[in-house]
Amino acid sequence: MFGVMYGIGLWYGMTQVQKNNLKVGDMFGCYFSFMISGVSLGEMGSVVSDLQNGKTAANHYFHVKQRTIVIKAADLDKPIDGSGDRHIKGDIEFRNVSFAYASALDKVVMNQLSFHIRAGQTFAIVGPSGSGKSTVISLLERFYDPLVGEILIDGQYIHNYDIEFLVFLYVYFCYVF
Ligand SMILES: Nc1ncnc2c1ncn2[C@@H]1O[C@H](COP(=O)(O)OP(=O)(O)OP(=O)(O)O)[C@@H](O)[C@H]1O
Ligand SMILES: [Mg+2]
Repeated sequence: MFGVMYGIGLWYGMTQVQKNNLKVGDMFGCYFSFMISGVSLGEMGSVVSDLQNGKTAANHYFHVKQRTIVIKAADLDKPIDGSGDRHIKGDIEFRNVSFAYASALDKVVMNQLSFHIRAGQTFAIVGPSGSGKSTVISLLERFYDPLVGEILIDGQYIHNYDIEFLVFLYVYFCYVF
């Protein structure tokens, strides 16, 4: 379609040049400026859809950022973080932990699970698919709270740790496991 338009434009321009209504330079200047503007305008279409995608992504981001955290709050006045001289050894204990996902409360994933991993010990969780191995890690990462029971790190309830400090320990240092 554009090819036809440019062809007609070139033909019309040349007729005006032949009638001495237009200089050759002006005709080509006009011709190329229209051609380049047309191509640029055509490319605007893809930019508009990218802008729309960016706007949607930004909306998702702010929606997630502004969510209220529903995990259990710390009992302490100040959650434990990396400040001060507190040193995390990495002692992990599950005490009678029971858990089911909120979307399937009737399906018990963990029923009174207890174990104690002392700092420096190597611990393997083995079981068939769906037995709850990843859920143990998700609970340690505080994606969820146990329905019943307690999880402790260095003898302190896990909900008393600053969540960003916990994630920092796990991600940057692989400190606890
Ligand atoms: N987000 C979720 N919502 C609801 N149910 C879930 C969710 N994640 C896992 N489950 C269910 O919880 C149970 C335990 O799942 P989990 O992923 O902990 O098992 P797994 O032992 O890690 O399995 P795999 O060896 O396949 O990784 C499974 O029955 C699974 O279907
Ligand atoms: Mg898994």
